[in-house]
Amino acid sequence: MNIVVIGTGYVGLVSGVGFSELGNNVVCIDKDEKIIDNLNTGIIPIFEPSLEDLVHKNMKEGRLRFSKDLISEINNADIIFIAVGTPRGKEDGEADLSSVFSVAEELSKNIEKETIVAMKSTVPVGTMKIIEKIFKTKSNNKIIKTASVPEFLREGLAVNDFMQPSRVIVGSNYPEVHSTLYELHRPLIKSNKNLYFQTDTQTAELIKYASNAFLAVKISFINEISNLCEKIGANVEEVADGMGLDKRIGRWGLSTGPGYGGSCFPKDTLALIHTASQNESPLRIVEAAVSVNDSRKAFVFSKISEEFNNDLRNKNFGILGLTFKAGTDDLRDSPSMDLIPKLIEYGSNIRAYDPQGIDEARKKLEGPIVWCKDIYEASENVDAIIFMTEWSEFDSKNIDFNRIATLVKKKIIIDFRNMYKPYDITSLGFDYISLGRKVSRSID
Ligand code: UGA
Repeated sequence: MNIVVIGTGYVGLVSGVGFSELGNNVVCIDKDEKIIDNLNTGIIPIFEPSLEDLVHKNMKEGRLRFSKDLISEINNADIIFIAVGTPRGKEDGEADLSSVFSVAEELSKNIEKETIVAMKSTVPVGTMKIIEKIFKTKSNNKIIKTASVPEFLREGLAVNDFMQPSRVIVGSNYPEVHSTLYELHRPLIKSNKNLYFQTDTQTAELIKYASNAFLAVKISFINEISNLCEKIGANVEEVADGMGLDKRIGRWGLSTGPGYGGSCFPKDTLALIHTASQNESPLRIVEAAVSVNDSRKAFVFSKISEEFNNDLRNKNFGILGLTFKAGTDDLRDSPSMDLIPKLIEYGSNIRAYDPQGIDEARKKLEGPIVWCKDIYEASENVDAIIFMTEWSEFDSKNIDFNRIATLVKKKIIIDFRNMYKPYDITSLGFDYISLGRKVSRSID
């Protein structure tokens, strides 16, 4: 099939490349000339494992192209996917749909043959209805058929999630659209037809938001259980393992941490709450999840501050991990990006290291920060090392803690991802502070 994907962010680029890998002819379009020029020379705008190889391979084999020119491409397409950004908009959580609507306007004026327009961007429930109206009023309605095909990619695992989806949700109010979209996705669902879930557009839109909100609730739930563990002397990791053994619950989402971040959960929970309140159908559980996640930021800061008797003046901290999770270079709503300015405000100096996020972080943060090339440089003369992101580079098997012990000023490790076994750290002479587990003092 001939496919056009509009928008070369995470979702658009991964989907476009993925569909070309399945044998389709794909053109990815972006109005950002620099991104397209870079892609045409093989430079990928995001860090996403194995994406670069697939871009090069499919370009070479002639199935993948990049273009700035929407109008000259759309009338060759069987399916057009809209995958432009829908950032957090106004204060009350409403998503900013200006890019989505401007693409819809442009399509409505320029599409001249029967085409399916499918939404991949995460758009609030009801958006496709508005887009249908735009198509009806501004174009020959009969030739544009709409669908909602939400994406469930995780950053860092996006290629894998595209190629091996847990489900393919397709919403359309046109039966014939389903047969085309089923055909497009058939190689992904292989023998398990049940993975293709067919519904109407509004339901598909809500499945996306409800899924993300449910996972955000799960994370906030374990973070509150983690707080309780600290009070009663229980171990949150074992609580999560024990709960996760129940297949109805599952272990994913039960890792306590500094709070969920990224481009999806924070934005999508707020947008869903907004839709719910507009429809006078409040989602109190999601509201609570958001409020727990917000308070996580203050909690992370106070845990560090308390360790230093609430005097952070002239303290040096090694911050390990800047991105919102491992496997990505994305800093959006990252707990580190909130914590570092606060530590600086209270008089601390920072030594920061991240395997992927340093270049972007350097542009966003200022103050007494030394940008380091590795964990050892970030440990020099610090009062505590603070782990914020669970990079595999930070696994105990990949770190020489004995070397770190010779570099630091004070042997304190604060681990907001519970990456280590307390005894492994305390037996090397460090105090070890983690989440939802007892503080373990050095046994030196
Ligand atoms: C999330 C969803 O997992 C994807 O299914 C969805 O497609 C995507 O949003 C999206 O809407 O585009 P992503 O934001 O890439 O994916 O990252 P996750 O791996 O879900 O992690 C989100 C946040 O939750 C991170 O800050 C992570 O550290 C945190 N988290 C995750 C926890 O604190 N504990 C956990 O157990 C799991």
